[in-house]
Amino acid sequence: MLGLLFLFTSALVSAYPNRGPCTGDCWTHDPSMIQRVSDGKYFRFATGTGVNIHTSPSVKGPWTDVGSALPDGSNIHIDGVDSKDIWAPDVHYQNDQYYMYYVLSKIGTQNSQIGVATSKTMEPGSWTDHGVVGLPANSNYNRIDPAWISIGGKNYMNFGSFWGDIFQVEMETPLKIGSATPYQISWNSTLNHREEGSFEFKYGDFYYLLYSAGIAGKYTKDFPAEGAEYHIRVCRSQTGLGDFVDADGTPCTKTGGTMLLSSHGQVFGPGGPGVVNDKDLGLVMYYHYYPLAKKQSTTVSDNSNYMYAWNALGWKDGWPYVKAA
Ligand SMILES: *[C@@H]1O[C@H](CO)[C@@H](O)[C@H](O)[C@H]1NC(C)=O
Repeated sequence: MLGLLFLFTSALVSAYPNRGPCTGDCWTHDPSMIQRVSDGKYFRFATGTGVNIHTSPSVKGPWTDVGSALPDGSNIHIDGVDSKDIWAPDVHYQNDQYYMYYVLSKIGTQNSQIGVATSKTMEPGSWTDHGVVGLPANSNYNRIDPAWISIGGKNYMNFGSFWGDIFQVEMETPLKIGSATPYQISWNSTLNHREEGSFEFKYGDFYYLLYSAGIAGKYTKDFPAEGAEYHIRVCRSQTGLGDFVDADGTPCTKTGGTMLLSSHGQVFGPGGPGVVNDKDLGLVMYYHYYPLAKKQSTTVSDNSNYMYAWNALGWKDGWPYVKAA
């Protein structure tokens, strides 16, 4: 009886607090979230037709689907890829406008390109496409999952997935990479080198690198093996330009990376993280997940099943953890 009670209790206690609440349209996939400077309205961008946009007065909602950033698609052409099938948006503000990096890719290949569009308002259809950022192809990396960061007044783009995992490159302008050479900032040497969807931000004395590790999809009742699915890890660095280490001091280019969030409750395969600085909640990490109930009932994994979630970040000894809402 006591043993049973113990089992029952421990099954209810998750290693993570539950995700924060979301009302309205809470679908997303590979989200990028930003507050509009003029009125504080939240914009959430997602992988999908012309980059889907949801807006809301707060991170909690109510979220409304308002349309697409590039309803006519990108002017980048990749053989066999629909130019409206745009992935992994990354949006930031500088020079009085918003920049959106995005991806066109043939899934599972290195036939990929990172593009950029700009807008003064972020509203659907207000985006001007500038096409490719000019990142050279290289067999060491895949040109997907862009994530911008400004360090010392310079623009940098982090990007990459599988092959050599996460790379960083200095940009000549927010629209062009220029001639700088990309370098690796995170790598897991085992198996299929499954790291992607990174996001870098500064807090206190350090730059923090979040990324998704593990298997990104195929979430059906039979697959993947427990723990092999997407989860979010964190590394930190004093310069933000490499030398990322995990909480044990292991370099993140040598299979380091501290677990920040993994599957719990209905939140299966959390990934695609980003961070916003909310005026009421402080630093908030947003991400997507695949509801466990959907995984357990489906035989065909579907992008339409992904959901948006968020947690405020707490800090201990210079490392973030997810807090209850
Ligand atoms: C590296 O990858 C292996 C295999 O996917 C995984 O078991 C391990 O947890 C990963 N390590 C880190 C630090 O991400």
